[in-house]
Amino acid sequence: MNAPLREDWRAAGFGLYVHWPFCLAKCPYCDFNSHVVREIDQAGVRDALLAEMAAAAAETPGRTLDTIFFGGGTPSLMAPETVAAVIAAAGRHWRLAPGAEITLEANPTSVEAGRFRAYREAGVNRLSMGIQSLRDDQLRALGRTHGAAEARAALAIARANFERVSFDLIYGRPHQSLADWQAELAEALELGPSHLSLYQLTIEPGTRFAELHARGRLPGLPTGELGAALYAATQEQCGTAGLPAYEISNHARPGQESRHNLIYWRYGDYVGIGPGAHGRLTRPDGRVATETLRDPAAWAAAVAATGSARAAETRLAPAEQAQEYLIMAIRLAEGADLERFFRLGGRLSADPAGLEAEGLLWRRGGRIGTTGRGRLLTDALLLRLLG
Ligand SMILES: C[S@@+](CC[C@H](N)C(=O)[O-])C[C@H]1O[C@@H](n2cnc3c(N)ncnc32)[C@H](O)[C@@H]1O
Ligand code: SF4
Repeated sequence: MNAPLREDWRAAGFGLYVHWPFCLAKCPYCDFNSHVVREIDQAGVRDALLAEMAAAAAETPGRTLDTIFFGGGTPSLMAPETVAAVIAAAGRHWRLAPGAEITLEANPTSVEAGRFRAYREAGVNRLSMGIQSLRDDQLRALGRTHGAAEARAALAIARANFERVSFDLIYGRPHQSLADWQAELAEALELGPSHLSLYQLTIEPGTRFAELHARGRLPGLPTGELGAALYAATQEQCGTAGLPAYEISNHARPGQESRHNLIYWRYGDYVGIGPGAHGRLTRPDGRVATETLRDPAAWAAAVAATGSARAAETRLAPAEQAQEYLIMAIRLAEGADLERFFRLGGRLSADPAGLEAEGLLWRRGGRIGTTGRGRLLTDALLLRLLG
């Protein structure tokens, strides 16, 4: 492997993703790898996570870890001791960068908020909360187990414990008008967040919502036109409030971006442990895409038997890396570095100047990115760019 390929990940950094696959209830819209079980074997999962981490560390010796992210599922169901053990082990296997960002995704129930302080003491320094809506009836419709007041109270507890708190909202919900969303988003912005993830509701195959939708029992979803208006209004309102989008669905005050997610979008290296976690690792034999077994029981059994639960490990040819880089980086407001794309061996099948003339792309300082119109057509645009 030549030096540019060996060193490419350094342009974005190195992170650790830890997937916690359990939830108290399955939300009808969610297709994440989440499972409702009667009892969680905290010690068993902890030991398996530590074993997987040790194996991954052997493939990436001597590195400095920039970020850790506990995602799920519902990581706020983790025993704080489990979180502490994972962070401590990460610090032993690699070197934790000074001020490394350590995020945990939390559901905003009162029970979970009771653990926030212990998470901080375990080393977590950023919380990402799945609030989803500030309206009780909407939370019920989304199958959430928390109410709006409970979410606000959990947010206050999060703020008291963490300097960096983000929260997620889902919009484009059934029967939600543009005015409804604008009012709800204004309330969210009044809470003074430094980071917001705002997702348009997607009907994911295999979910309860997909089943209802197929039977015509999920009426009131936005038309494409309303969806575009909701997105445009979101950009405008957040921009005015000082939280411009730095990625399609993510908004932050400058400097408060999720450094972990930027590693994905800027195409760095990341270790993925826990059931169904994905990773990208540059090893002496090349860059590989890794994926672990999705089923928690099968995952735990595989780790116990062999120390690893990799379901797949795929070598990425340089041109594939270039494609992955562009697919991720085009999501960002800062766009993609074309020189890096070409250095990786990428080839474009459409001329960016032509796409710029069509009003879909901008070009600046060797970078390309989507315009407001292009962003709504990102998939089609990528098809044209990558053939
Ligand atoms: C891994 S999930 C869950 C985090 C946490 N368990 C929770 O539910 O609060 C991360 C975020 O993805 C978003 N999300 C999940 N499924 C979605 C869907 N079908 N459409 C839009 N957003 C979705 C939600 O905002 C959610 O908070
Ligand atoms: S949205 Fe969150 S709480 Fe709901 S099932 Fe998905 S991961 Fe679990």
